Formats: sequence, structure tokens, C-alpha cells
Amino acid sequence: MKEVKIALFGCGNIGTGVYKLIRNNCIKIMDAEGVSIVIKKILVRDLSKKRYADIDESLFTNKIEDILLDKEIDIVAEFIGGESPAKEYILKALNHKKTVVTANKEVIAKHFEALQEAARQNEVGLYYEASVGGGMPIIRAIHQSLQANRIQSVMGIINGTTNYILSKMAEEGREFEDVLSEAKELGYAEPDPTADIEGYDARYKLSILATLCFNKRVQINNILCEGITKITSVDIQYARELGYGVKLLAIAKDTQNSIEVRVHPTFIPINHPLYAVRDAFNAVYIKGDSVGELMFYGRGAGDMPTGSAIVSDIITASTNKHHYVKLVATPDEEIFEDNWLTEYYIRLSVFDKPGVLSKIAGIFAKYNVSITSVLQKARGDVTAPLIFVTHEAHEKAVLSAINEIKKCEYVNSVENLIRVEK
Ligand SMILES: NC(=O)c1ccc[n+]([C@@H]2O[C@H](COP(=O)([O-])OP(=O)(O)OC[C@H]3O[C@@H](n4cnc5c(N)ncnc54)[C@H](OP(=O)(O)O)[C@@H]3O)[C@@H](O)[C@H]2O)c1
Repeated sequence: MKEVKIALFGCGNIGTGVYKLIRNNCIKIMDAEGVSIVIKKILVRDLSKKRYADIDESLFTNKIEDILLDKEIDIVAEFIGGESPAKEYILKALNHKKTVVTANKEVIAKHFEALQEAARQNEVGLYYEASVGGGMPIIRAIHQSLQANRIQSVMGIINGTTNYILSKMAEEGREFEDVLSEAKELGYAEPDPTADIEGYDARYKLSILATLCFNKRVQINNILCEGITKITSVDIQYARELGYGVKLLAIAKDTQNSIEVRVHPTFIPINHPLYAVRDAFNAVYIKGDSVGELMFYGRGAGDMPTGSAIVSDIITASTNKHHYVKLVATPDEEIFEDNWLTEYYIRLSVFDKPGVLSKIAGIFAKYNVSITSVLQKARGDVTAPLIFVTHEAHEKAVLSAINEIKKCEYVNSVENLIRVEK
């Protein structure tokens, strides 16, 4: 039986979950994998904090050197979170010849090259299955099961908080702020939910997925990022009337000549596999040139699902003879497409006057944007909602048309623009 000694960086939600999982399933892991995982030290910030009672207090330290200088510790699992000091601690661990397992999407997304390089130079491993999709085994599937494919596209619901909010808004007809407050109370949203609701968390994860899927480094600043704060129950109701649902999608496409990467609220048809992904669940839908369509579905957060991915990485790291380090190309900036072709939902508030529809249709036509459907809704006192869904059109043409529509005397306001994906 191989015994592997590890240390944990952090003992909050995830660290405690990892501790419990290793303790609960140690016999199964020993029998099936031939590895006995021993947690030798746990780094925390505050030694006086009350911890999960089963953890031996003597394991805790607030000095990273206690772990870095312990030659018996081969693997460090990091769940401190955030960029700093997590990045510096991960680099220190790699430079002290310790393999690192991490759940930290921000650090992996922002510092992929530096961390890979440190792992390579020190001949240790860097594993980050839990950084995307919590318990869904998506990273290893891309590395070890889909290598034969040229992956053409990845579309994912990779932020559970926003999916929970949008699901509740759709199912209960409630407004964003109302559901967000409830999500905070129930622990589905952080006290400061900015990273989730503005799409930043999904952007980190898409940067990692697209980099691995396309073998080309996709930086977070290459990715268009829009959150869900402007989605209203009215948009969700019109989506339904038009045969769509609204999801925060992370989308990446590689045509080989160009890469398109974006995170934004999206209309998807009710018969799309991602439409059925409700509540805080995650899903990633991949198209490969040989495998065709694949979908991964599961819990994208939570101590035990995330712990499942982390302990799997620890087992893999301790049983691998050679650590796998991904090599990715650095593409020219020009390869990133910002004038993609897609369909659009556009909701206007217009003054209720004769000729308004033809005037707006004329502006769309001027920019070569053709219309698939129009919904004209009951009037208010002086204004009425007017909803358009376009055929496929270029992003820049649609934005130019919208700029002109905003200035049109018949138009009170442009209420929303949501991209449509099929
Ligand atoms: N929560 C999830 O469902 C989930 C899912 C997937 C990935 N992740 C990722 O997992 C990571 C951790 O999440 P979490 O929810 O477990 O966070 P958390 O509950 O806030 O725990 C953070 C832990 O890190 C320790 N820590 C913070 N700063 C430190 C420092 N400077 N030095 C030493 N220790 C420090 C804290 O110590 P004290 O306890 O002493 O304060 C705490 O134990 C994040 O990267 C997150 O993105 C989380």
C-alpha cells in the first residue's frame, strides 16, 4: 500500500469537505486505488477559529513554511481561493517540489503559463479538476478522453448561482433582485455576489475550458463578459412565448481561422439539451469533430461534489508515474473574433404612433439585419413594448442598428438585447 502525505491550504467549506471525504472513503480508496492518503498539515489564517470537531487540532498551522519545509509532504491541495496570496502559495509549493491540486479557477485562468512552467521545471504536477464544474469530471475528460478530437465548440452553464436565479425567475415569475436576496439567505449566493452575477466567475472557467479544448491560450480579456443583472421577468416571459429559455452561457467556438469566446445571458430553444439544466446545476455541452455532441451534467459547487474532484486529483497525482503538463500555443490577438454571427432578441419601448414598426424595420434593413419575428404588446399610456428576433446577423451591424434606433424619435428606450444560440 502506497502512503501519500498531503497538506491542505485552507479549511473552509471545501477544505472541510475534502477532509470528510478522505476520512469517509479511505477504505474504498485504499482497496480500489492502492493509496492511503494521510493529511499531515492544514494551513489556515486564523488558528483560534472553531473548526469541524473531528479534525485533530495539532494538524493546523498558520505558517506556510511548516508545510513547504516538510519533506514528507508530496502533495498540497489549495482551497484558499482568490488571486493573492493563493497564487504565491501555489508557486511556493511547486518550487518546493510539491505537486499542487487546486480548486482555484481565478489563479489558473490568470496565471496558467507561470504555474505550468513552475510545475514543469520542478518536475511536479499541477491538477485543477475542481476549478471548473465542481464535481463534473470535465477537465480530465478533455485531457484524457477527447484528445483525438478537434473540438469545435463548448457551451456551458458553469455558474450555479446565476442558473439558480434564472431558474427561479422563470419558474416563479419573480424579479432578479428578489431572487438574489433569497439566494443569499439560502447560501446559494455569496454575500458579495458580484463575481457570479456579473459573469466573472464563468469567464474564469471559460478561459480554462477554451484553453484546454482548443490547445490555444485564451486569456480572460479575450472573452466578452456580460452578467445577468439586466434580465427581467418580462424578458423571460417573452422568451417563453418565442420558444426559448434564458441562461447565462459560456460559449467558445474554434473555426481554426478564428476563436469566439463570450459569456452572456442567452436565449436557447426549449429543445436544446442545456435548456433542461435547472437550479444550481452545471452542464457543459461539447461538439468534437469525431465524437459529435457530448454533455456533462452535475453539481458545480458544494463541499462534497467539489471534494470529489479534488480527491480524484490527489489520487491521480499520487498514482501517476509522470505528471501531465499541458502545452498550449499562444495565438495572435487577431484570431479572437468580436464580430460574430448570431441571432438577437431586442426589446424596445416605443411611443405608440402610426409608422413606428416600419421606421424601425427600415433601420434594421439599413444595417443588413433581417427580422424573424416581431411581438407587439399591449400599450401603456403613451408607450408600448416592441420585441424583435433577428435572423443571424453580425454583432457590429446589430450594435450599429441599435445605436441608430436609440436616437429615433419613435423610440422611448432600448430595454434589452440578448443573443440567441441554437
Ligand atoms: N464553495 C464551493 O462550492 C466551491 C466550488 C468550486 C471551487 N471552489 C473554490 O474553492 C476555493 C475555496 O472555497 P471555500 O468556499 O472553501 O472558501 P472559504 O470557506 O472561504 O475557505 C477559505 C479557507 O482559506 C483559508 N485562508 C484564507 N486566506 C488565507 C491565508 N492568507 N493564509 C492561510 N489560509 C487562508 C481560510 O482560513 P480561516 O478558516 O482561518 O479563515 C479558510 O480556511 C476557492 O478557490 C473557490 O473558488 C469553491
